[in-house]
Amino acid sequence: MILPIITYPNEILRQKAKKIKNPKDKEIKDLILDMIETMEKSGNALGLAAPQVGQSIRLCIIKLDGKTYILINPKISRKSWKKETTEEGCLSFPGKFIPIKRSRKVTVKALDKNGEEIIIKAEGLLARAFQHEIDHLDGVLFIDR
Ligand code: CO
Repeated sequence: MILPIITYPNEILRQKAKKIKNPKDKEIKDLILDMIETMEKSGNALGLAAPQVGQSIRLCIIKLDGKTYILINPKISRKSWKKETTEEGCLSFPGKFIPIKRSRKVTVKALDKNGEEIIIKAEGLLARAFQHEIDHLDGVLFIDR
């Protein structure tokens, strides 16, 4: 099911999202499927965070180079000192693109869709997408960066 995307300045985008206690619940699995479908239908977005579809919980998905990353309760455990500036967009800000400075490499710890702990090391565009989406879970938007 394609979900409506919440756009700025809706206040849900500013809330700190809640930790997911039962990652294997059916409602979480259904939401993940809906979010993937919603993102795929929305053009060339790289990621979508649950608050953007009205759910203030710590879940985001990222799709890059044909690979889909499902992150539940993600945390950035390492950020490179080295940064890079690239233009970014956000589904909650249709048509808006701004250059944003972010760490070039990050390490993310999260739970996957089976509730198993995963650690992902990313760089470049993938690292950027992780930082952008995890920011959403803390109510931080790219216009703040
Ligand atoms: Co965004």
